[in-house]
Amino acid sequence: MNDTPQRYGTLSRLLHWGMALLIGWQLLKIFDRINDGEHWVGQTLVPWHVSIGALIMLLVIIRLVWAIKQKDNRPRSEPVALVKAGHGLLYLGMLVMPITGVMYLVGKGYGLKVFGMQLIARGDGVEWMASLGSLHSPIAWLLLLLIAGHVGMALLHHFVKKDDTLKRML
Ligand code: HEM
Ligand code: HEM
Repeated sequence: MNDTPQRYGTLSRLLHWGMALLIGWQLLKIFDRINDGEHWVGQTLVPWHVSIGALIMLLVIIRLVWAIKQKDNRPRSEPVALVKAGHGLLYLGMLVMPITGVMYLVGKGYGLKVFGMQLIARGDGVEWMASLGSLHSPIAWLLLLLIAGHVGMALLHHFVKKDDTLKRML
């Protein structure tokens, strides 16, 4: 269960790949820009956006607590400071996306409904929340770039440098 300097443990790997899948799903929201979402992706996967986002919020908290517990056990990659900064930004992105998403909906007065449960009722908007919420989309694009860089580095390690960086997360 625990991580070791040679390999990420079961829970770390489960959280990493489970959340990678969910975040990939969330990024499909960009397809709403094509034909106003009137297509298969927009009609079947994207409508889960708010519920999956709430699930990610819960999972990232668990993942953060777990990462702090495992910080002395984990594999280290060079250059340490740069890798830590990169992974730190990925965590920040995973945390800020659901927060700004909720701000957007509540700020505009749409309320918040998660897996069919109305957690916050529709109401009057809250202007400062709506303005913070408007950062949701630009941050999503930044996160997409960051993820592309992250995946690119993982593939570079595996196929060009041929080291075990990817293997220890598999
Ligand atoms: C990690 C979690 C999340 C990710 C990666 C994510 C990603 C995205 C992306 C890529 C877009 C499309 C942006 C664009 O087309 O420019 C978007 C839009 C949106 N998201 Fe999220 N989202 C997340 C969580 C949430 C949550 C939790 C909520 C609500 C509670 C939410 C509400 C919205 C709304 C309302 C829009 C449409 C905003 C607009 O049209 O400007 N998102 N999100
Ligand atoms: C196909 C997609 C992905 C691949 C191939 C991949 C690959 C990897 C690899 C090989 C590591 C270990 C790096 C090391 O030991 O230095 C890692 C760690 C990490 N990845 Fe990814 N990753 C992917 C998607 C994502 C996504 C979508 C996120 C979040 C937005 C993410 C966040 C992280 C974080 C925060 C770490 C540090 C370890 C941890 O705290 O879990 N990854 N990834």
